[in-house]
Amino acid sequence: MRYFPAFLDLAGRHCLVVGAGAVATPKVRLLLDAGALVTVVAPAANAAVRMLAQRGDITWRRRRFRGSDVAGRSLIYGTSGDAGVDESVSHAARCAGVPVCVVDRPALSSFVTPAIIDRDPIIVGVSSGGTAPALARRIRAAVEATLPPRIGVLARFADRFRSVVRTARPEAVARRRFWDEVFDGPIATRVLNGDDDGAFKAMLAAVNRRSGADRPPGSVAIVGAGPGAADLITLRALRLLQSADVVIHDRLVGADVLGYARRDAERLCVGKARGGRGWSQDAINERLAALAGEGKRVVRLKGGDPLVFGRGGEEAEYLRQRGIAVELIPGITAAAGCAAAAGIPLTHRGTARSVTFATGETADGDPTPDWADLARPGRTLVVYMGVANADAIAKRLLENGAEPATPVAVVENGTRPEQRVVTGRLDDLGRLVHEHAVAAPALIIVGEVVRLRAAAADRDESEANALRLAI
Ligand SMILES: C[S@@+](CC[C@H](N)C(=O)[O-])C[C@H]1O[C@@H](n2cnc3c(N)ncnc32)[C@H](O)[C@@H]1O
Repeated sequence: MRYFPAFLDLAGRHCLVVGAGAVATPKVRLLLDAGALVTVVAPAANAAVRMLAQRGDITWRRRRFRGSDVAGRSLIYGTSGDAGVDESVSHAARCAGVPVCVVDRPALSSFVTPAIIDRDPIIVGVSSGGTAPALARRIRAAVEATLPPRIGVLARFADRFRSVVRTARPEAVARRRFWDEVFDGPIATRVLNGDDDGAFKAMLAAVNRRSGADRPPGSVAIVGAGPGAADLITLRALRLLQSADVVIHDRLVGADVLGYARRDAERLCVGKARGGRGWSQDAINERLAALAGEGKRVVRLKGGDPLVFGRGGEEAEYLRQRGIAVELIPGITAAAGCAAAAGIPLTHRGTARSVTFATGETADGDPTPDWADLARPGRTLVVYMGVANADAIAKRLLENGAEPATPVAVVENGTRPEQRVVTGRLDDLGRLVHEHAVAAPALIIVGEVVRLRAAAADRDESEANALRLAI
C-alpha cells in the first residue's frame, strides 16, 4: 500500500490554498465542508474565490506565496500551476512538517486527495495513488450507485443507540451480530425509507428483547472462493466474508480474495501443499464445530466450488450432525473458470454433448475410475489434480480406446494474471506437462473442444490483420 488512508478532523483548523483559479475552488469548498478555516494566497482570484472572501467564508491574501505562509497550518494545497511556486510551497510545507498536496504533482505532494462520496457522516474515499484519477472516479460512481441516499441518516441513527447497545451487549461478538441484524434487517429498511419513528420504536424493542445474557448461536458458511481471480467470487460469498468473525481457508485461496474479509476477522490457513503437511480433515471439522460453538460466524472458504473435489459435503455433514447451522455457497469451479479463461467451451454443439469432471488423485476407498467411459469420444473430460499423474492418465485413456490425436489443454493458474495454457495431443500429454514444467494448480482438459480455442485464436489474428490493413 503506497498511500496510507486516514480521515482528518480539520474542523476549526487553519488550512492554506495557494492559487485561486479553477483548480483551487473545489479544494477550498472541500476544506470549508470539513469545517476548516481557509486562507487563500494568490495575487489574483477567480469570481468564486472572490465571492467567498467577500462573504467572509475565507481569508484571501492578495499577494504571492511566502514561505512563512505555511506556519500554523494543518493542511496545504498548491494549485497555482506555476512550477516555481509549486516547488516553494512543497518545500516550505515539508520543512514545517505540514501535509501538502500540489495538484497533479505527486512528487511534490505528501498526500493525495481521493475521489469522495460525502453522505455525512459516511465518507467514502477512493484513490488510485495518483496513477489513474479517472479510474478512481469510475470506482466512486460504482460505489455511489450501491449506497442508499439516506445512508448517512442511518449512521446517525445507529450512533444514538451505540452506548445503550454497548451496555446491553457487552460481548463484542454478540454486539457485532446485533448490529449486523439491525443493518441487514427491517430496522435499517425503515430508516432508509424515512420511517424514523417506526425505526426508533423497533430499535428500542430489539435492544430490550435481546439481553446480553443469551449468546447468539454460531454458524458455518462453506463458501466457494472461485478459481483464482478475485472478481470471480459471488456477491453472496462477498457479503458473508465481510461479516465473518473467522475465515478458515485453503491454500488455493489468494490473498486478494482474503482481503474481502473484515480486517479484524481471524484468519486461519488449513490447506496443505501437494504432499505436504497440513491440517487433517478431522482437525478441520473439529475446529469449525468449536468456533461455531463459541457463537462465531465462520466462513470456511475453499478454492473453486466447495462441493467439487473440495470436501465441502463432508464438512457440512459433520456440522449438521452436531446441530450447527450450515450454509453452502457455490463458487465458480476451476473447470468453468479455466475453460473460459483459456477460450475453450466445455460443451459445444456437434463436438461435445457432455462434460465429466474427474480427479487425477484417488484416496483409499474411492471407486476406481471407469476409464473406458472417460475415454469415449463426443465428450469433454476435465481432470483436476492430474498433472503429477498426467502420463499415467493419458496411458489409461489410450489403453481404453481414446484417439491418440485427441487434443488436450493444460491450464496452470487459470484466471490468475500468471495463467499459462499449453496444448497438444493426448499421446504427448506426459511430455507436454514435463517439458513446460507445469505446476499445481493446473487442470487438464481432454477433448475435441480444445481445437475451438485454436480456431478462435486464428480468427482473432486474421481479424486483427484485416484491421491493420484497413488502417
Ligand atoms: C482440491 S481441488 C479443488 C477444486 C475446487 N474445489 C474447484 O471447484 O475448483 C484442487 C485442484 O483444482 C484445480 N484448480 C483449482 N484452481 C485452479 C486454477 N486456478 N487453475 C488451474 N487449476 C485449478 C487443480 O487441478 C487443483 O489441483
